[in-house]
Amino acid sequence: MADDRMLLAGGRVIDPASGKVRLVDILVEDGRIARVGKGIRARDAQRIDCRGKHIAPGFIDMHCHLREPGYEDAETILTGTQSALVGGFTRVCPMPNTDPPVDSEAMVRFQIERAEQAGYASVHPVGCCTRNRAGKELAEIGSMREAGAVAVSDDGDWVSDPRVMRRALEYAKAFDMPVISHCEYDGLSDGVSNEGLVSTRLGLRGKPWPSETAAAARDIMLAEFVGARVHIAHVSCAATVDLIRWAKLRRVQVTAEVCPHHFTLTDASLAGFDTNFKVNPPLRTEPDRLAVVEGVVDGTIDVIATDHAPHTSIAKEVEFDKARPGIIGFETAFSLGYEQFVLSGLMSPARYIEKLTLAPARIMGLRTPSVAEGTEAELVILDLKAQWTFSSAQIMSKSHNTPFLERTMQGLVVGGVLGEEHFWLLHAA
Ligand code: DOR
Repeated sequence: MADDRMLLAGGRVIDPASGKVRLVDILVEDGRIARVGKGIRARDAQRIDCRGKHIAPGFIDMHCHLREPGYEDAETILTGTQSALVGGFTRVCPMPNTDPPVDSEAMVRFQIERAEQAGYASVHPVGCCTRNRAGKELAEIGSMREAGAVAVSDDGDWVSDPRVMRRALEYAKAFDMPVISHCEYDGLSDGVSNEGLVSTRLGLRGKPWPSETAAAARDIMLAEFVGARVHIAHVSCAATVDLIRWAKLRRVQVTAEVCPHHFTLTDASLAGFDTNFKVNPPLRTEPDRLAVVEGVVDGTIDVIATDHAPHTSIAKEVEFDKARPGIIGFETAFSLGYEQFVLSGLMSPARYIEKLTLAPARIMGLRTPSVAEGTEAELVILDLKAQWTFSSAQIMSKSHNTPFLERTMQGLVVGGVLGEEHFWLLHAA
């Protein structure tokens, strides 16, 4: 629990809006940022020594899976939002592929209320595009919007019927929401890994890259035609990055995200048939990985999202072909991106933080994350020098399906403040 007054003293504040990093103190009172400035004196406030640390607005994950309702053995809204907070995500947008799927006002309200009861990261649900995620008729897009849904998607599946997708874009436009497209073309997507040298050598059924790029092309063209917003989820291959770059030049209202596993790993990792490397879309080749990195750096890809996809050990500890795709992602995302984009010298810390804060807020129509006086305190404390090793014992998610166990990384979320209820310090600040 946070004290009423708290002084975060001596940290460097990263402001993604201005790109500036300033050495200032932050006084938090009753869960709000009361003052930001140099040398603030507040004798009665709890003092948190942030010297040597950085402070940024809390992160927003616009693509994750919290599994409730229906798959509570893998994750619940409580455990998922705890895991999110540990990773620095103060707001998350769960995808609707639950059981039953989130395709109605009542389901949207249920998820928001559950998250409020849990009291950790706040939840801004993504509703289904189509009723029951069946791809046939539209879901109740307008009433889901009223209940608090921020986007629509049939994530996990592509909306293969072009008439249905066109209508979804038209409705989403009317309610000023993006349609998030999970791009995997039917008929090209029944593999379990990227189709290429590795899948041939290992005898795995492959999904060729046109499975993603052809699906994205159709949805981008429909979005242009309709004048709607489309967001391409988990971009995995070079051709899709080129396509989005082209579409942005045409001023199509297209945005895109990449997940940490697609910018850190390739299909070469599949040699041991470890199902913790099985994801949808699949890990691709080194040229694809480099292309998505370039896309993030040049702005073609707007957002870094986790696609946190918890699965039980029963769903993962089976043959590669049968294992469920997906990995947990909240607790490693910041560090993996920090190494890939900032330590490498490709991006400044502020530009990197923008991909985790302002960009997803803009796309999902959420309140702008900031470290401004008068706003609710929603802050993360970062140790950018810390080297740490991700261990099973520290995982807060209910599931442990990750390929990053025992990996040593640099850059760590050491704590944060979220409103009146939460101040957490996991590692000595
Ligand atoms: O790897 C994935 N897992 N990709 C998806 O699109 C869905 C997700 C899941 O729900 O497990």
